[in-house]
Amino acid sequence: MSNTIRILMCPPDHYDVDYVINPWMEGNIHKSSKDRAVEQWQNLHNAIKDHAIVELVAPAKGSPDMVFTANAGLVLGDKAVVSRFYHPERQGEEPYFKAWFEGNGFTVYELPKDLPFEGAGDALFDREGRWLWAGYGFRSELDSHPYLAEWLDTEVVSLRLIDERFYHLDTCFCPLSGGYLLYYPPAFDAYSNQIIEMRVPEEKRIIIDEPDAVNFACNSVNINSVVVMNKTSVELKQRLEKVGFTVVQTTLSEFLKAGGAAKCLTLRVNEPIREEVHANVSVESRVIHLEGHLLDAGIMNQALDLIVEIGGSFRVLNFNLGIERQSVSNADVRVSAPSHQIMEDIMTQLIELGALSKTEEILNAKTETVTMAGVSPDDFYVTTIYPTEVRVNDQWVKVQGQRMDGAIVVDPTTLTADCKLLRDLRVGEQVVVDVEGIRTTRKVESRDKRGTQEFSFMGAGVSSERRVELVVEQIAWELRKIKEQKGKVIVTAGPVVIHTGGGQHLSHLIRAGYVHGLLGGNAIAVHDMEQNLMGTSLGVDMKKGIPVRGGHRHHLKVINTIRRFGSIKNAVEAGYLTKGVMYECVKQNIPFSLAGSIRDDGPLPDTQMDLIKAQQDYASILEGTDMILMLSSMLHSIGVGNMTPAGIKMVCVDINPAVVTKLSDRGSVESVGVVTDVGLFLSLLIQQLDKLNSAVSLTV
Ligand SMILES: NC(=O)c1ccc[n+]([C@@H]2O[C@H](COP(=O)([O-])OP(=O)(O)OC[C@H]3O[C@@H](n4cnc5c(N)ncnc54)[C@H](O)[C@@H]3O)[C@@H](O)[C@H]2O)c1
Repeated sequence: MSNTIRILMCPPDHYDVDYVINPWMEGNIHKSSKDRAVEQWQNLHNAIKDHAIVELVAPAKGSPDMVFTANAGLVLGDKAVVSRFYHPERQGEEPYFKAWFEGNGFTVYELPKDLPFEGAGDALFDREGRWLWAGYGFRSELDSHPYLAEWLDTEVVSLRLIDERFYHLDTCFCPLSGGYLLYYPPAFDAYSNQIIEMRVPEEKRIIIDEPDAVNFACNSVNINSVVVMNKTSVELKQRLEKVGFTVVQTTLSEFLKAGGAAKCLTLRVNEPIREEVHANVSVESRVIHLEGHLLDAGIMNQALDLIVEIGGSFRVLNFNLGIERQSVSNADVRVSAPSHQIMEDIMTQLIELGALSKTEEILNAKTETVTMAGVSPDDFYVTTIYPTEVRVNDQWVKVQGQRMDGAIVVDPTTLTADCKLLRDLRVGEQVVVDVEGIRTTRKVESRDKRGTQEFSFMGAGVSSERRVELVVEQIAWELRKIKEQKGKVIVTAGPVVIHTGGGQHLSHLIRAGYVHGLLGGNAIAVHDMEQNLMGTSLGVDMKKGIPVRGGHRHHLKVINTIRRFGSIKNAVEAGYLTKGVMYECVKQNIPFSLAGSIRDDGPLPDTQMDLIKAQQDYASILEGTDMILMLSSMLHSIGVGNMTPAGIKMVCVDINPAVVTKLSDRGSVESVGVVTDVGLFLSLLIQQLDKLNSAVSLTV
């Protein structure tokens, strides 16, 4: 027996499940048996007394959970950080525990009033004393960790809990003597699991399965080589015994009804100090500023959700709500993250939402030099579709050539910034790294405009026929408007347009002057010409809808013939190709670019098999576009979406809702998704345009 270890317990005189603050309490209000609880607690007390000195804190009426002394606070040496409970239901326990610590000679530290930290329930020392594992996500805030590091002069390793059944770190994680660790990995996010694996060698990790986890096997009291727990499977018991532990099982079913077991019912109050360990915490915090229609445009929600989803935490420092209809709101939010890497991930996405990192003075963007052509320095800022500015020599400079997935090259002498693809980076160029001094400038739409001018008034995921008709009506109206204003519309199209009978309608659109550029691949051109030269599309008779004998060879014959002509244009000029989408492009002098792919037959002489060249052709045709119609080609539409900055209207038509959602995920103001058959869509569009045109001619 080791009598050096002292453990604090609280008799269950007032214990009951009086409220629900975790999933285990659900359905268990007043369902625990008082007698059984007393008996089980006594058994645990006896089991621990065999190996340690047990001290008691007097139970208080009205604080039924005080029995769970693990949440009294966190102790190291003669210092105690008293808990700040997250739920008001438990906050009444704080003064009792504080009084006990003070009465027993501890120097007590108290966190700010609204900064939750639930003691040793969420903070467990590595049993070798090397560092403190600290949990956050449900009860304790990440922002409490730097206080622990400073006050206790220890290293704090933050772990994020993600399964609400394991709401405290000690419900799923138990450091054991000898550097062993008993834990349930699915209770943690991926980053935390990585951290655990980096710190604890594989042979010391004792991973448990769900059945043991829900029996609170991790909620164990470890005293030297003894592990006291509620219940274990035979297999886990054997694994623990194999590495030298003695398992003592003592049923605690009455306490499980409140979401606690052995460890929750105890607090070790003489944690030894290791002199060589000193304060260290990787938690980073910074303040961001948000401005705009933060509530009704959902920006505030999105910002706070993404901070938590990526693994950080936040505190809204101030929020000024715009009072007038037209006024905007602004907010300062403190963001904390368990590491620099996670902070960067969070900041990148917040910048996309329009947030600005708020420092005493606005810092210039950090840059690093390109040392190898076509390769950026690590840690470069990856661009988005949103207009971006970077801080250079204390001035905001607008980034030119905005597109997604590029790097920003700045020239401080000319005060310029350009969005560049990795392959275009040259040695010596200065690339923006990190997230400092970068902001995106999103247009703040007025409330009135948002109501009436929203392009996607139907939103993505349109399905019913009537709704498709309504969307088509609006698209027709937009197309007409752009044509009148001599604007530019680009179509990206896949071969399905032809297979579904939409070729004639697309030809009509081009002929009537609604289309100013066509982007596609080998297939759209091949199948369009196959249809117009041989009456089939992929060998299927387009009039009868049945396969033609030997028809599968048709498209190859067409490719071969066009190859003989040398180009589609030559075939049109020679009078060989007389109708169809490609014919109209040539006739109307509409630029087109056919980007090659690995599955292309032939290819056609016009198909650009040098993909870098094809991307450049696409980009140049897209320049100055007002609207892009993306018709059933996932490959080309995604390519186009990536090279198009925000602010350009997009219509994505596809039968697969997932493709539509992906492509129209640019904010509702500028993109609309239509889930329907592309042939049907084009035919409705032509009907609508005809209707609009005849209405106009009637009124003239
Ligand atoms: N013979 C050839 O040379 C040949 C043939 C086919 C494809 N390809 C090439 O392969 C690449 C990819 O081709 P892709 O663009 O056809 O394929 P893709 O998979 O990128 O896109 C096809 C899209 O059409 C959608 N779709 C299917 N039926 C639809 C319908 N009835 N209405 C609306 N949407 C519908 C699908 O959901 C899908 O998103 C291209 O480069 C293309 O040129 C070449």
